[in-house]
Amino acid sequence: MTGQVEPHTSRQAPSLHGRSAALAQPLLDVRNLSLSFTTAQGALPVTRNVSFSIAPGERVGLVGESGCGKTVTGLSLLRLLPTQSARIAGDVLFDGTDLLKLSPRRMRAVRGRDIAMIFQEPMSALDPVFTVGDQISEAYRVHFPASKAEGRERAIAALREVGIPAPERRCDEYPHQLSGGMRQRVMIAMALICKPKLLIADEPTTALDVTVQAQITDLLRSLSERTGTALIFITHDLGVVAETCTRMITMYAGEVVEDAPVDDVLTRPRHPYTSGLLRSLPGLSKRRGVLSSIPGRVPSPQSMPAGCRFRSRCAHAVPGCEQEQRMIALTPDHAARCWRTPELELPGAVN
Ligand SMILES: Nc1ncnc2c1ncn2[C@@H]1O[C@H](COP(=O)(O)OP(=O)(O)OP(=O)(O)O)[C@@H](O)[C@H]1O
Ligand code: SF4
Ligand SMILES: [Mg+2]
Repeated sequence: MTGQVEPHTSRQAPSLHGRSAALAQPLLDVRNLSLSFTTAQGALPVTRNVSFSIAPGERVGLVGESGCGKTVTGLSLLRLLPTQSARIAGDVLFDGTDLLKLSPRRMRAVRGRDIAMIFQEPMSALDPVFTVGDQISEAYRVHFPASKAEGRERAIAALREVGIPAPERRCDEYPHQLSGGMRQRVMIAMALICKPKLLIADEPTTALDVTVQAQITDLLRSLSERTGTALIFITHDLGVVAETCTRMITMYAGEVVEDAPVDDVLTRPRHPYTSGLLRSLPGLSKRRGVLSSIPGRVPSPQSMPAGCRFRSRCAHAVPGCEQEQRMIALTPDHAARCWRTPELELPGAVN
């Protein structure tokens, strides 16, 4: 199966499932997660054998160009995709429990309390007719018994925690009275009010201007450090990953193609696609605004090539690359989906 990880040599035997085993207890252990949508033309596979694990408190950047499957992977973990059309296979072990096997009622108890998710556009997630204080308070009271007064106290504390000035006043305001950056802070306050073990942030800064983007990114990192909440940071911006995360997972065309500690992958990526993404960075010190310089486009799920899915864009493609590719582990925590990875010397962002 393509979701499994092969060691590079028997002496370098670690695998990513070895990584899961090496983690005292992974918080999240995703195994062979595959998603397809039912369409008029039949089943449309969108992700295939996505496997990775996250330790408690770890901050992981999930990167890849548009359409690679980052958002649907985040939504699959929380079972937030439409049940009529989305077919999810595999295991999503969270604290040892397979979320894909939970009843809808138990899954609702996990969402918001143990795992929270924030999105790109906070306005669409906030209800315009309730004050932000009521919405944050409700996010708490849905999971814990608390009076309205206690809910309000907690909402004010949460607004203070995310750096909103005059939280007692802001608590009584409506979403439209706040700036985009403030609204995203409210979403973060709402997501963290139950002290979840994992926060999935899907492009949380894309809709904001550059200065505010940096503030929100810093806030997410410092809150994660302070509270021990693990973070999956979905983004196009590898500079954000470099500054915020400890590990980076690269997705390409619905598959994980590289999984590595950030420091390793920045200096020595082991998959040509990750290398291409890193080379397109204008410079980590300047960072914002990633320009893709990789020629060609991500194949669509309707026209997925056999073998290595990156082949048509890869400068290192040779005969043999038309075979299906497995993840190959170079070290206990660095693996890439490319049979040539042991021999390739690929440039990173920091040389
Ligand atoms: N409801 C759906 N029905 C059919 N296909 C879908 C659906 N939602 C997503 N897809 C397809 O799944 C693939 C992955 O989409 P996804 O939104 O996860 O990409 P992404 O990596 O998050 O991209 P972006 O960076 O643009 O947000 C795309 O080809 C997309 O067209
Ligand atoms: S398998 Fe071949 S085409 Fe695919 S990334 Fe590796 S070298 Fe490139
Ligand atoms: Mg997305």
